[in-house]
Amino acid sequence: MIKVGVNGYGTIGRRVADAVKKQKDMELVGVTAVHPHYKYALARDKGIDLYALDMKSLEAFNGAGYTLKGTLNDLLHRVDVVVDAGPDDTGPANLKVYSQAKVKSVFNGGAGDDMQIPSFVAQCNYEAAAGKDAVKVVSCNTTGLCRTIDAIDGAIGVAKARAVLARRATDPDDVKKGPIDSVVLDPTTLPSHHGPDVQTVLPHINIVTMAFKVPTTHMHLHSLILSLKKPATRDDVVKALQGARRMTLVDGKSGFKSTSNVMDWAREKGRDRNDVYEATVWRDSVTVVDDEAYMFLGVHQEAIVVPEDVDAIRAIAGGYTRDESMKLTDESLGISHR
Ligand SMILES: NC(=O)c1ccc[n+]([C@@H]2O[C@H](COP(=O)([O-])OP(=O)(O)OC[C@H]3O[C@@H](n4cnc5c(N)ncnc54)[C@H](OP(=O)(O)O)[C@@H]3O)[C@@H](O)[C@H]2O)c1
Repeated sequence: MIKVGVNGYGTIGRRVADAVKKQKDMELVGVTAVHPHYKYALARDKGIDLYALDMKSLEAFNGAGYTLKGTLNDLLHRVDVVVDAGPDDTGPANLKVYSQAKVKSVFNGGAGDDMQIPSFVAQCNYEAAAGKDAVKVVSCNTTGLCRTIDAIDGAIGVAKARAVLARRATDPDDVKKGPIDSVVLDPTTLPSHHGPDVQTVLPHINIVTMAFKVPTTHMHLHSLILSLKKPATRDDVVKALQGARRMTLVDGKSGFKSTSNVMDWAREKGRDRNDVYEATVWRDSVTVVDDEAYMFLGVHQEAIVVPEDVDAIRAIAGGYTRDESMKLTDESLGISHR
């Protein structure tokens, strides 16, 4: 059993903790708690052990009637791997703490680009994590782009990728951020960081991205254009996408007219928290013109990285191939592969 701790119990940490609990080869030792909040009471009710982030947090929880198992330092003594799902700016300091405790770590998304740790997307570079002390699961949008581009690159060849991202403003439970009635250029200077981030996983891909935020919490939507290395039909592109794990194809004619419909699909399917772990391509959007493939790609920001975090734990702990790990993870989360 791989003993796992989760430091940071927000949008991503809560999902990763539950996903770890579903793995037959992993034990969730505990999660860190920062300020008393209903999410920690719910975790406790689910039988998840809580560890205070620091002494200040410990005092706050003791005062609120919680019984904690110790602090982050105690948690680190009991785990093989820690998943860091804290705020972006806490990454570098946390990496030092994990290194001192000699615990392997998996970071997420926007955590410190200056940390100099390898980026991770299971489908693309699982093996690159072997023997490493720390890896970073790239952001939700980068994960979606990497899976999609890699699938088509493997089957047909991608000479260039260009993407325009309509980004969700914030996550559903976050009342502090996000435009209410505006489209926010993010950033105004181009390109956006997503292209270079993709190149940390797929360095050979020529990619340029631009992005803006829109007033929604239901997923990001990319308009993706890929220049293909050889002539291909629309069916070839669809087949390439169908051949990859963690991609799902939806159709407008079946009722998928919006990102809300994709979230509704996951809700009706009974997915935990309505989560869409797959990169979602609208099959009827896939069009090939002059060796360029066009498509709409949806990314559920809260969920897409969760299977990647689980695979990253196995990849740095060792003992599994990419396909073995992805299969175990997908089966546990109800991700079907056609
Ligand atoms: N949300 C997304 O769409 C998304 C998608 C992919 C990747 N990511 C990445 O995943 C990471 C976590 O993002 P998130 O959206 O889950 O953030 P979040 O919802 O804000 O959760 C962060 C959690 O970390 C806790 N925390 C505060 N200080 C900490 C510290 N020093 N060390 C560890 N934890 C600390 C916070 O506690 P309090 O709430 O009490 O402050 C909160 O529970 C980020 O790197 C982000 O870039 C996010």
